[in-house]
Amino acid sequence: MEKVPVTEGRTTFFAPVQDENAAFPPGSAPIFYNRRMEANRDATVLYLSVMQPSDYLDAMGAMGARGLRVAHEVGIPVTVNDISPAAAAEIRENADRVGGEIEVTCMDANALMSTRRFDAVDLDPFGTPAPFTDAACRSAKRFLCVTATDTAPLCGAHLKAGMRRYFARPMNTEYHREVGLRILLGFVAREMVKYDRGITPIFCFAHEHFVRLHLRVWGRVKNADQTMARIGYVMQCPHCFYREEQAGLLPETATCPVCGAALRPVGPLWLGAVNDPGTIGAMIERLPTMGLGTETYLSRLLPLLAEELPTASFYDYHKVAQRLRASPPAIDVVINRLRDAGYQATRTHYEGTGIRTDAPLSVLEEAITRRR
Ligand SMILES: C[S@@+](CC[C@H](N)C(=O)[O-])C[C@H]1O[C@@H](n2cnc3c(N)ncnc32)[C@H](O)[C@@H]1O
Ligand SMILES: [Zn+2]
Repeated sequence: MEKVPVTEGRTTFFAPVQDENAAFPPGSAPIFYNRRMEANRDATVLYLSVMQPSDYLDAMGAMGARGLRVAHEVGIPVTVNDISPAAAAEIRENADRVGGEIEVTCMDANALMSTRRFDAVDLDPFGTPAPFTDAACRSAKRFLCVTATDTAPLCGAHLKAGMRRYFARPMNTEYHREVGLRILLGFVAREMVKYDRGITPIFCFAHEHFVRLHLRVWGRVKNADQTMARIGYVMQCPHCFYREEQAGLLPETATCPVCGAALRPVGPLWLGAVNDPGTIGAMIERLPTMGLGTETYLSRLLPLLAEELPTASFYDYHKVAQRLRASPPAIDVVINRLRDAGYQATRTHYEGTGIRTDAPLSVLEEAITRRR
């Protein structure tokens, strides 16, 4: 395997040379390394440097990029695991070069997570994390981080696969990326609450082809009940832009007050905030000191996440304008009009034309179509 030194953040490790022409996901090297996931790893290094867990498991290490960076840049004891002996050998070589308190294991992640506990557990599988989430919920003491790259099943493009993996029904709406994130979050919540433990989403976002969750885990029945209370549905009208949120295990029938159609339940999914503004604020402060390769991207993402309203969906105001045959004004104009009308309104990181608001649809339409 041909390898080259790669530097991410303040860490240099060896990674396989990938065939630039190979189809995505990069599978041209025997061991996986994807430069395009640097933003995902940078985000985690920044997050963990604020949270400072006492130890960390990278349950699917591949070349070890993520775990080695956490050991080196966050400065905490790390275990890097991979089921592949060839990958584990590469992780060991990289660990010797990088230094730090690094243990390398070569096990099925589910076996490892079923027998040992770690303050922070990180799942970074190929595709869906669903087969690993139960063991991760048992293994994680205070922090759980999860990547999913199966965005088509999560977002509603592959409906049956999504239902099999997450026991939820997505819908391909204009906010499908948010539906994907919230269905994954709802799934992790359900895997956790059966152990009488709960979660709080701290730093969760979608980017390119992945969803990334950073969660705080809590150990009491009370926390599990609070987590359960966040499970529910977005009730979406199939004919117009109307939607409403409904908490609870089972969806109850509802009718669109705008056009009279039966609303369709999307979920079960997580309702409420998916980011903690206090933690995000601390990350924004720390960001310039970290030397991260994707600092520019993160410096745009984090303030957006900190201000996003905790609604479970957003409107694509260009699509609303199109339906009204109106030419859309600038996004800030619409947001300011909503605020002037006494409602809350923010952008969203999912889409440049996305608006989150607690205003009724009719008020949003008026804010889009008003001449001046
Ligand atoms: C997407 S890659 C991990 C990428 C890595 N975390 C990074 O940031 O570069 C997924 C890895 O999971 C490993 N894997 C697959 N099934 C596994 C299992 N059951 N237990 C542990 N590792 C597994 C594969 O060998 C592969 O190296
Ligand atoms: Zn309707």
